[in-house]
Amino acid sequence: MENLVDQNLFSGVYKGKRVLVTGHTGFKGSWMCYWLTKMGAEVCGYSTPAPSDPAHIDKIDLNIRSVIGDIRNQEKLDEVFADFKPEVVFHMAAQPLVRLSYKEPDETFETNVIGSLRVYEACRKTESVESIITITTDKVYENHEWDWGYRENDRLGGKDPYSASKAAMEIMTNSYRHSYFNLEKYGTDHQVLMATVRAGNVIGGGDWALDRLIPDIVEASIAGNPVSIRSPYSTRPWQHVLEPISGYLMIGQKLIEKETKFGEAYNFGPSVTEDVNVEEVLITLKKYWDKIDYKIERPDVVLHEAGLLKLDCTKAYRNLGWTPVWNVDSALKYTILWYKEYYEEKDIQTEKDLNTYISDAKEKGLAWTKS
Ligand SMILES: NC(=O)c1ccc[n+]([C@@H]2O[C@H](COP(=O)([O-])OP(=O)(O)OC[C@H]3O[C@@H](n4cnc5c(N)ncnc54)[C@H](O)[C@@H]3O)[C@@H](O)[C@H]2O)c1
Repeated sequence: MENLVDQNLFSGVYKGKRVLVTGHTGFKGSWMCYWLTKMGAEVCGYSTPAPSDPAHIDKIDLNIRSVIGDIRNQEKLDEVFADFKPEVVFHMAAQPLVRLSYKEPDETFETNVIGSLRVYEACRKTESVESIITITTDKVYENHEWDWGYRENDRLGGKDPYSASKAAMEIMTNSYRHSYFNLEKYGTDHQVLMATVRAGNVIGGGDWALDRLIPDIVEASIAGNPVSIRSPYSTRPWQHVLEPISGYLMIGQKLIEKETKFGEAYNFGPSVTEDVNVEEVLITLKKYWDKIDYKIERPDVVLHEAGLLKLDCTKAYRNLGWTPVWNVDSALKYTILWYKEYYEEKDIQTEKDLNTYISDAKEKGLAWTKS
């Protein structure tokens, strides 16, 4: 791997920084920890065991301190925080699946709301903590099924337990931001800045979670049981996992640099022109890996699709200069080639994908690639 430490990405703020990541055994968390360590951060992960088998974290060479624990366990969290003394906390641990949240609302609310409360309490007791970045979702917005994107100051909502738990967690975060980490008392009574970062569904190599289109298609194609696609015209804002992570790292950088205006909510999503439907996704995947197999069952009548939600990312663009690096074709290409290499060659492309992503971002002149 190219030496990212010398490249001074994100102005080099992560070099030697003590960063605690909750949910490090998960899909996004493992990519996040990988990138952080390559920039010289000292990382401690805190999480329940990997939610899938196989799991991305077991496939990559990750030099971090890994603690297996539940975020609802205050005592254990406090111990780990007191011992590791993090300066930055990326809080990602969650029950992240909408379908499962219908079956297990208790677990979902407990983990996503009470678990987050426990993380914030651990932060409150730990003097070293200066920056808290909590990963939420585009689903926190009350969905009006508009054609235009949601902005950070739109009303929060959520009809299913997952969305509601994440919206509730945002409201709780706001109460911490006012009650304990109030900006007016920043630098005198406390030294903590808090941000929430909202992104939509992401894709990328190493995701084996249930009910996600690409992992499902890959598994079925490998097993020789092509899945039937009943909603070929559904569109989703597809985005590679490295895109929101570059946004989270940018917000982290600004908080580390004590720029108070970034202690707020930020959206990170693909450009609004990047919507493609499921059938187009499948055609693209097959273009890059001909083993991909599926059957399309075309509906007689194409109904309006409920629930499509887009993010307006103007705030991230204007305040941070953040934009996505890859278009949807590249996001799909790097995702499916990751699985192809894994299943056909037993080779892991995480390092290569990260290097390509960074060099493409440099070519585009993105702010986080400059010192
Ligand atoms: N993947 C997406 O498309 C997507 C989209 C929007 C938001 N998010 C958010 O991003 C974050 C990461 O999601 P992901 O896709 O990596 O999911 P994931 O299921 O792969 O990872 C979730 C992580 O949280 C951990 N975890 C779950 N319950 C826990 C508990 N009680 N205590 C400690 N750890 C616990 C799991 O072990 C795992 O490490 C979540 O907050 C999720 O809501 C993900």
